[in-house]
Amino acid sequence: MKPGLSSPAGPRVPAEPTGPPGGVKSHRRPYIILAPMPRITVDGRIIDCKDRQMIIAACHDAGIEVPHYCYHPGLSIVASCRICLVEVEGVPKLVPACQTPVRDGMVVHTTSSKVINNQKQVMEYLLVNHPLDCPVCDQAGECYLQDYSYQYGRAQSRFEEDKQKKPKKDVGRNILLYNDRCIICTRCVRFTREISGTSELYVDGRGHREEIDIFPGKPCDNKLAGNVVDLCPVGALLDKDFLFKQRVWLLTSTPSISPVDSGGENIYLEHNEGVIYRVKPRYNADVNTWWISDDTRYSYKAVHDPARLRTPRRLQYGAQIDTTWDKALEQAGDLLGKVVSEKGPGSLYAMLSPMMACEEAWLLSLYIRTIDPQAVLAVGPVPDTGTDEVFRNALTGQPTFVIKSQKVPNAAGIRRVIGMLGGPTADFAEMVAQQRDDLKKLSGGWIVGGYLSSWVPKDIPPQFKKGVRIVQDILPSSLADAADVLLPAAAWAEKDGCWENYQGRIQPFEAAVPPVEGARREGDVYLRLLGRSGLYKAESVRREMGEPFASVRMAEAATAEPAFEFAEL
Ligand code: SF4
Ligand code: FES
Repeated sequence: MKPGLSSPAGPRVPAEPTGPPGGVKSHRRPYIILAPMPRITVDGRIIDCKDRQMIIAACHDAGIEVPHYCYHPGLSIVASCRICLVEVEGVPKLVPACQTPVRDGMVVHTTSSKVINNQKQVMEYLLVNHPLDCPVCDQAGECYLQDYSYQYGRAQSRFEEDKQKKPKKDVGRNILLYNDRCIICTRCVRFTREISGTSELYVDGRGHREEIDIFPGKPCDNKLAGNVVDLCPVGALLDKDFLFKQRVWLLTSTPSISPVDSGGENIYLEHNEGVIYRVKPRYNADVNTWWISDDTRYSYKAVHDPARLRTPRRLQYGAQIDTTWDKALEQAGDLLGKVVSEKGPGSLYAMLSPMMACEEAWLLSLYIRTIDPQAVLAVGPVPDTGTDEVFRNALTGQPTFVIKSQKVPNAAGIRRVIGMLGGPTADFAEMVAQQRDDLKKLSGGWIVGGYLSSWVPKDIPPQFKKGVRIVQDILPSSLADAADVLLPAAAWAEKDGCWENYQGRIQPFEAAVPPVEGARREGDVYLRLLGRSGLYKAESVRREMGEPFASVRMAEAATAEPAFEFAEL
């Protein structure tokens, strides 16, 4: 098409620049002609696309459904399932929408009789050997095969022979393979090659004997393995942890952030009636894309740990006794106040856990500084393995995913809050070393845990062994046993807040379930101690904290997936 002319769907190609009038020589930079973005017509609707985008991605961006099994925007394109075939005017045969790039002026039909006939044939073929066990299949309710069978399939099967039966296989610590449900889309195989780079899964056999398998003695146990369950469009790969526990349509999804490291993976906590049943990845192009680590996937278990602390306790005549929240908070305030009146300013500390939300750290710091304006704000232990785990595409060597070495989610956020408040501060190593005079003077403090497993290190600050200790935690520990006042806290999934990840990205998370009976959210406790009315609302505290917290918002729930461009293998 000549420049300046219009494509059938409107003017697309910019005209040549004409330059300044009168032919006067100009010293300005020449015009830059940007490549026009393709515009295509799908089922009579004109849509703008990204350059080199596949038809399927352009349609999905525009909200036009094109069925697909083997296509996934995070994996290479194989175009093997053929359910996505569409009709393109001027092309004699149907083309795979997942493998055909858009071109300006292209006219696509996704609902023509040729396309619908193909969808029916593909569905009939896939269902030839597929068992009709939806009532007992964990995938029911979120199964592509079930959905497409309803939308695009035949009402009745014409197949009268016996179905091919294939055995179930244990393919990993957390994964079961129901081979007779598999439609050989190879998403799982491509994931282990292209993302985890571990290549445990492969396709064995040919034709109707084809099946997914692992190599002898090499189970699919890599640290990203659970993603193959999310990727499987049918109920072939299942998570043993979730198996037969809930029907998926009963689950509610709450956006959250991974608590296991400083990566800040975006997740959904899926729960029903106060119980979390599973963790799923939440797409974020800048953080974790489509994937999460298995540590993140199973992190919810700490929330339902039977050992969770549930009753406030206080020291009486040298022994801890159960008490009420009113008594516990009254005693905590009295003890801390007494320390300051006896030892003077600078005798209190607050140990802010890197598991706390930034808002909670802010409120606790305000409280401790109302009792002792010179109180030291210290960061709790920050466990670090020393090396990030980098996953690479086994074919290209390109990095695909990183599990961060720092095994807490919010060390950066806590440091930021402490920096905003100013005054005396310390890190955990300084508290242990006790080389600063101001730290030697500390005689009482508020210690927050909230770690998902045992956290009290071998080397602890001397203040943890004596003086006044108000401990707020979710799990028992030697420190909890020795506390003057012990307050059962809420786990991250039970409260709102925000964490800052290693990139400096401050990300909010929401409460999915209520705190276990007897525990209270830290935010509510601090508001009460500060004498403020009402319940804790993370967003209000963020407004009070000012920037950068005031403008932190939850990302859009349904972030559009980026279109997959050509796979560079
Ligand atoms: S197990 Fe699932 S993801 Fe893997 S090839 Fe079969 S259907 Fe696809
Ligand atoms: S999604 Fe296009 S061929 Fe499978």
